[in-house]
Amino acid sequence: MPSATFHFPPGFLWGTSTSAYQVEGNNSNTNWSEWEKIPGKIYENQICGSACDWWSGKWKEDLDRMKSTNQNSHRLSIEWSRVQPASDRWDENALDYYRKILMGFRERNITPFITLHHFTEPIWISEIGGWENNQIIGLFNQYVEKVIEALKEYCNYWIPINEPNVLVHQAYLEGNFPPGKSSIQSGFSAMSNLIKAHSLAYETIKRIQPLSRVGTAINYRAFWPKSNSNPMDVWITNYIHNQYNESFMKAITKGSLNFAFKKERFQKSVNSFDFVGVNYYSGDNVKFSLSRYKDFFHERSYPQRSEISENGFIANVPNGFEAAIKWAEKFDKPIVITENGIEDSKDQLRPQFLIEHIHKLWRAVNLNVPIRGYFHWTLVDNFEWERGWSQRFGLWRLNLQDQTRIRTKNTELYAQICKSNSITSEMVHQFVPHIYSRIYPG
Ligand code: BGC
Repeated sequence: MPSATFHFPPGFLWGTSTSAYQVEGNNSNTNWSEWEKIPGKIYENQICGSACDWWSGKWKEDLDRMKSTNQNSHRLSIEWSRVQPASDRWDENALDYYRKILMGFRERNITPFITLHHFTEPIWISEIGGWENNQIIGLFNQYVEKVIEALKEYCNYWIPINEPNVLVHQAYLEGNFPPGKSSIQSGFSAMSNLIKAHSLAYETIKRIQPLSRVGTAINYRAFWPKSNSNPMDVWITNYIHNQYNESFMKAITKGSLNFAFKKERFQKSVNSFDFVGVNYYSGDNVKFSLSRYKDFFHERSYPQRSEISENGFIANVPNGFEAAIKWAEKFDKPIVITENGIEDSKDQLRPQFLIEHIHKLWRAVNLNVPIRGYFHWTLVDNFEWERGWSQRFGLWRLNLQDQTRIRTKNTELYAQICKSNSITSEMVHQFVPHIYSRIYPG
């Protein structure tokens, strides 16, 4: 039986990724806390509630969990509504608390990456129209300035906006996230304002902290034509890829946007990022469908024979991860995998998902693709937006009743990967013997 160790370069960043609203708990001043009150918006009308209870202090033990399982980095986010609860009020206590959390990272020698907007915003921002109102560009910038001034001593890596492409699609084109819009005009305005807000934030962060590194976190979805011999399938796949994966990056690379049937130039946005953050979960086959005009004339299905997660939310498609990395490479900047994970409350598919994706990652690193780190989504089960608590993405299970965390075999597997900075044949043999020959072909 062949065996080998797939080593990563020294200093590779291994960690997990979280977001404020999904872990802190008791965030009652945001567009999402309002959205949760509307019947039918969240699975079984569940609420985020105390989430993973970080704001009451559970962050400490979760940071200990990261440390004891050999993670050397973590991506977290700051909740805008805590820092600026009203348009004319800053909460210095909230900033102090974030400082305390960041001290916790420093004490444990864990490098933080901070996202400044991860899907949520203060109620007063939604009252003026959220991302559809261009006033948000300046207002977001004031918040960014405040946070960077307050926290720059503790962090060098910043991501102004998480998944602008998901935000636009879910909140302004499909209506599953607040404010629940589904209009092409709303989608275009939101995308345009997100691009401007990102670039202005980039400028501000670099002015205050010139040596910091500011990047993105784009949700990359892999798309393949359902039939390669059908020109319409090929054409629509390309179109969807450009809309979903490319739009935002093209705007902050070259300054041009071609989205939702409209165009705009952004001279000031050219080259406004230092690293490419990739969030990758899954991929689809895409078929042209004339009747689905509301879905930009396409229909998706999971690639045949791929394993599907328990609620059908994710297909295990490591080839799509390869495609995501290849795509990110063309921007010619360092790459960080800012999210990757699967929902799996029974831990049946996750070990395989982890090994297969990290194996793809290793292949790319080995071909000198400049990937600096990998953040698994996520540490402990958390609140999964419109899907509530029905999906479990954690390396630890969360018991919501008493806030206890339960170690799983994935905790152990990921801890071994982080510790050895590699994948070994022993790990594959121990955790996923059924795919041994796929990882180590004879
Ligand atoms: C988001 C996370 C979310 C994860 C899994 C990503 O698109 O950034 O907030 O929890 O997907 O659903």
